[in-house]
Formats: sequence, structure tokens, C-alpha cells
Amino acid sequence: MADRIRQMFSEDEIVKKIAELGAKITKEYEGRELTMICILKGAAPFACELAKRIDLPVEMEYMRCSSYGNETESSGVVKIDLDLDRPIRGKNILVVEDIIDTGRTMSYLLSVLKERGPESVKLCALLDKPDRRVTDVDIDYTGFIIPDEFIVGYGLDYAQKYRNLPYIGVVEPEE
Ligand code: IMP
Ligand code: MG
Repeated sequence: MADRIRQMFSEDEIVKKIAELGAKITKEYEGRELTMICILKGAAPFACELAKRIDLPVEMEYMRCSSYGNETESSGVVKIDLDLDRPIRGKNILVVEDIIDTGRTMSYLLSVLKERGPESVKLCALLDKPDRRVTDVDIDYTGFIIPDEFIVGYGLDYAQKYRNLPYIGVVEPEE
């Protein structure tokens, strides 16, 4: 049966916010080249839109991680399923993630990337759910701060569904 989705952010609001993030990043990295690392699968729509709003030479790279856990919470044991195919030594890295929840996935991933000798590593997340944080993570660029609700759309899934929604919303199961 179809779930009902209560909208939290419209497509227009999301695109506007991403344009603001892109402008800020463009300004702060002026004169430098940027390597974006898009964390698959969830951050793909966000990373594509963000890349279009950054007026700098940008390389786009992809990684995919999984953490053992259930459908709504990660466990902290993070595995890299798809790694970068090139070194990042000396590069300015911007990790692009859909949402920081407990922070476990990102704190592991950032520590792995920092060991590879990049010039700099920053984090850009479309969404931040600070109430759920277990591990500290510094988010350099945040789109929206949200309450502790499970959301879908604009790349985010529930059991692999709803990634294609153009907006972000909360799943409300039918009564
Ligand atoms: P963390 O390690 O707990 O910070 O988990 C981050 C990952 O969990 C994200 O990349 C998402 O894949 C997933 N996640 C966390 N919260 C949500 C949510 O509200 N909706 C969909 N996926 C989520
Ligand atoms: Mg994810």
C-alpha cells in the first residue's frame, strides 16, 4: 500500500538553498580547484545540483559506504563498498552527503580520507539531524537543520524507495 508523505521542504526551497550553498562555496574556494566526493546513493541528486551552482573547476568523484544496521539507523561499523579510483593527495576535498544523523558514517569516512594526504577536507550536508548525534562531526556547509524525524526524497530513501521524489518529506504510514 502507498505511504503518505508529508512535505517538509519543497523542490523550490531545496534548489534555492543549494544555490546559496554553491555561492558560499564558490566564494570561499576562490582561486582553487575543488574535488567533490559524492556519497552514493543518497547524495547524488544533491551533489549534481550543487556542482552546477559552483563556479570553479570541479572534479566529481563518488564513494559508497554501508553500515550494518536496520533500515532507519546505522550501526557504526562502516564498510567502503565503492572506493575512489584516484589518489586525493594535495587536493581540496569537499565531501557531499545527504544527511548527518548519528554521525557515525561521516566520522569514519572523514578519518579515512584525511589519512590519504589531501590539502584540505570539508563536509557539505544537505540535512543535519543534530538531536540524534552520537559522534561529533563538524559540518562546514549545512543546508537544513531538521528535527528527529525520518525523512525521504531528494535522494533519501526508506528501504530504497522515494529517492526520486523531487521534494523532502516525512513518511506517514496509512492508518
Ligand atoms: P549516520 O551514520 O547515522 O550519520 O547515518 C547517515 C546515513 O543514514 C545517511 O547517509 C542516510 O543514508 C541514512 N539516514 C539517516 N537519517 C535518515 C533519514 O531520515 N532518512 C533517510 N536516510 C537517513
Ligand atoms: Mg547515505
